[in-house]
Amino acid sequence: MDTILAYLEANENRFVDDLLAYARIPSVSAQPKHAPDLEKCAGWIADRCRAIGLETKIHKTSSYPIVVARTPKFDRNKPTFLVYGHYDVQPPEPFELWESPPFEPVQKGRDVYARGISDNKGQHLAHLNAVEAWLKTDAELPCNLTFLIEGEEEVGSTALYEFLPENKKLLACDAVVISDNGIPTLKHPALTYALRGIAAMEVRLEGPSRDLHSGIYGGSIENPAMALCQLLGKLRDDKGRVTIPGFYKDVVKLSAFERRQLAKLPTKAAAYRKFLGVPQLFGETGYTPDEQRTARPTLEINGLTSGYQGAGSKTIIPSWASAKLTLRLVPNQTPDKIIAMVTRHLKKLCPKTVRLTVTPGHGGTPYLVSPTGDLAQGALRALESGFGHEAILTREGGSIPIVSAFKKHLNADTLLLGMALPDDNPHSPNEKFSLDAYAAGMRMSANLWAELSHAAIGGCCDCGSHSC
Ligand code: BES
Ligand code: ZN
Repeated sequence: MDTILAYLEANENRFVDDLLAYARIPSVSAQPKHAPDLEKCAGWIADRCRAIGLETKIHKTSSYPIVVARTPKFDRNKPTFLVYGHYDVQPPEPFELWESPPFEPVQKGRDVYARGISDNKGQHLAHLNAVEAWLKTDAELPCNLTFLIEGEEEVGSTALYEFLPENKKLLACDAVVISDNGIPTLKHPALTYALRGIAAMEVRLEGPSRDLHSGIYGGSIENPAMALCQLLGKLRDDKGRVTIPGFYKDVVKLSAFERRQLAKLPTKAAAYRKFLGVPQLFGETGYTPDEQRTARPTLEINGLTSGYQGAGSKTIIPSWASAKLTLRLVPNQTPDKIIAMVTRHLKKLCPKTVRLTVTPGHGGTPYLVSPTGDLAQGALRALESGFGHEAILTREGGSIPIVSAFKKHLNADTLLLGMALPDDNPHSPNEKFSLDAYAAGMRMSANLWAELSHAAIGGCCDCGSHSC
């Protein structure tokens, strides 16, 4: 393992250059004008996989390509692990809030700023670099590795949902490893054993057949924007609880063990409030902020549109109003059931003065896995040796819907080993990635293959694991 770690250290500058080159490609999956950039990005990461010595194929799909790269000399007697990542990124807008252009990476101290550098380019690149170190130092990997890198995670992974069941053999594995999430600090590496699920929908209210003069007509008809605000306002109470009947029915209660684990996170309410720039924290009564944001379900308005948005004022009653909503779900809530529940409730509450349309969007089931198995213990050891600090167990509030599909189609659990820091600003202006996290992530990954193989085999195997 020492030779592999020395290789990583000796090549760190080149790995940083690679990261900058990858982050320069504006692979924004939500915006059709970037389609050529997504193709380019798939090509870039495939070339990188080939340069390392992986057997690499770019799979065409109904949408953006999926890259699959495998370690050479596949050996059926060894365990196999699948590393998942995504080369697409969130839209960078609003541009004016960026201190440097989102696709011109800039290094400041040990941080590099660029859209998608933390979510998720830097994190899966760290794994690839670690495999390069194994292969280029002629160390014998104790496992087979398959990299699966898609270009649609930020918009719902449609193509991957089709690709998975059609390629079960190619992707078969003992466990999936994903680094597309976070850790509280560099001193708190973490194994994330639960993610929230998601249910997206759009709610639209239509009123008059056109925008109308609010002086001539105001008072005699409903204002769709006002009706929408009132409707949405009824979905949550002032204790932060969603008021939709049955919403909490399937929610699994947090155990005392879990509450103790979450209490170990180093979050301080005052610093958290300041960091987020809010005058006061708000969340469901009876839960800590870490419990609220990782282990409790929510209903959020992501976008609200109606009426005149230009300069000055325009005295109208808007013809329509719409809202984009997402609900974050926890075990055992399911997106289909929740969307049906919300739709039913909105129909019941909606006044007859406007017409309501609810359009369901993407969904993902929540994920929860036991953190006590041998593979989880191996991952904790790898985290500790990579980051140099004791690893903790945590849950996270974000969603990676494909994780449940890995369980369904490959019957494989996922180990979530994040490298992002809380101030990385994913999905926000000034996204960045810490080069210290990048380096620690590479060391963690280098150790991981020994630790996981050892755990999968269940005994001493001369694999380089710390417990072997
Ligand atoms: N990397 C995030 C998910 C994440 C972030 C998990 C932090 C845990 C902690 C991922 O790229 C993402 O943003 N996913 C979307 C889901 C999707 C269906 C749009 C999300 O959570 O909003
Ligand atoms: Zn991501």
